[in-house]
Amino acid sequence: MSADKYNIPLTLIYQGENYPIQTYVNEYHSLMTLISNHLAVVGFGLCCGMRSCGTCMVEIGNKYSSVTIHVLACDIPINDELSNTEITIPDQRY
Ligand code: FES
Repeated sequence: MSADKYNIPLTLIYQGENYPIQTYVNEYHSLMTLISNHLAVVGFGLCCGMRSCGTCMVEIGNKYSSVTIHVLACDIPINDELSNTEITIPDQRY
């Protein structure tokens, strides 16, 4: 796959650090698997995406808006809607 397929830029934010990521549609099953592949977050995604543990809760926003949403990362597919978003992983698991 060519590098230009990585056309979805997003930033993961964890423990005050920014982690810029480039991905593409369906590179991962969900945002939860993307995060798990890039960061070692203790206790994150314990039910492996079965939507039963709540440990994958993240906050999604962007630098152009004060609006943020709280979602289960395992419910979020990797697609263009994530482009230029900032995804904050809380220190404390829900
Ligand atoms: S991984 Fe358990 S609810 Fe998302």
